[in-house]
Amino acid sequence: MNELVYLDNAATTPVAKSVREKMSEFFRDKFGNPSSLYSAANTARKEGLERSRERISDFLGVRQEEIIFTSGATESDNLAIKGVALSRDESAHFITTEIEHHAVLHAFEWLEDQGHEVTFLGVDEDGRVKPEDLSNALRDDTALVSIMYANNEIGTIEPIEELAEIAAEKGALFHTDAVQAYGKFPLDLEHVDLLSASGHKIYGPKGVGFLYRRKGVRMEPLIHGGGHEKGLRSGTENVPGIVGLAEATELMAEEQAQEIPREQKLRDKIIEEVLKIPDSRLNGPKENRLPNNANFSFKGIEGESIVMKLDNRNIATSTGSACSSPSLEPSHVLLSIGLPLSLAHGSLRITLGRETTEEDVEYLLEELPDVVEELRRASPLSN
Ligand SMILES: Cc1ncc(COP(=O)(O)O)c(C=O)c1O
Repeated sequence: MNELVYLDNAATTPVAKSVREKMSEFFRDKFGNPSSLYSAANTARKEGLERSRERISDFLGVRQEEIIFTSGATESDNLAIKGVALSRDESAHFITTEIEHHAVLHAFEWLEDQGHEVTFLGVDEDGRVKPEDLSNALRDDTALVSIMYANNEIGTIEPIEELAEIAAEKGALFHTDAVQAYGKFPLDLEHVDLLSASGHKIYGPKGVGFLYRRKGVRMEPLIHGGGHEKGLRSGTENVPGIVGLAEATELMAEEQAQEIPREQKLRDKIIEEVLKIPDSRLNGPKENRLPNNANFSFKGIEGESIVMKLDNRNIATSTGSACSSPSLEPSHVLLSIGLPLSLAHGSLRITLGRETTEEDVEYLLEELPDVVEELRRASPLSN
């Protein structure tokens, strides 16, 4: 068993050894500015920046010039959404869902403040967007549809191929926030125009990500300067971070075939055992769910209290997304799938990773029923 039983891999992941090693070469010896002309800079550009772009584009099956490096998925989401909006007139219509990450939701709320009309689609009780809802919401003036590939809280994998095809038939661009899906399982990008991904969810460094932008998609930059990244994201590139992101991507690709079923098996065991706790429920679907995600609600107790009690026993978990946890607000995702406030407050997210062992899972399954019982005994709400 690991000393810390780390079950919050959707929030972030430990940086892989080979990622750290590759990055350190580009901190130490190959530190040149990729835009400079001398040979040390050439190494940073060719072996660092451009080789990384090639590795990532090969993995996705897209062209190298379609990868724009950014400071992470929050920036990629903002660039996709606002970048397209800035290239259209103010009357353009946009579509997203109620269950997106705040990086997407708040960018669309900002567009509304700028005068754009935005439709927020609801989801079914498993968190799935219904294709007919998208068909009905699309209009002739819809510029962009943005729907996440997989939900960071409840693990729902959306039917992206179908949704993106519906948008394409209507002539709207399609963006997907693929942060929780990238590297975890094969993605279908046939009708996807824009895709956001992040390094630190796949055992890479924090503060680096990319936006895939299909060639020809019209958009404006948000950051102006020296014209880096095809003029869409100025600023000297974070070469060590980008090298780390590319290395992390390749490691994910190499291990996918073994790691998906391994994590899925551990996840299913957790689901089976935790549902034996009285008044517990699984949030999100049984099928079409991220292989590493389990999310539960426990009647009568707060998710935060479970997280704190598990922390005392060296188990790291979360109530929902890392960004919204400290707010003590009920999860917008759980409210959107129809949970009453009492259950939306009592959720626990467990997300497995490469380093999670069977012993870690056994330990969680020993401790969790105990923690829930202890909290229920102390809670005035539980009766
Ligand atoms: C679905 C989703 N989108 C966006 C983000 C933000 O990514 P980053 O931390 O790279 O800005 C996260 C991270 O929590 C996420 O889970």
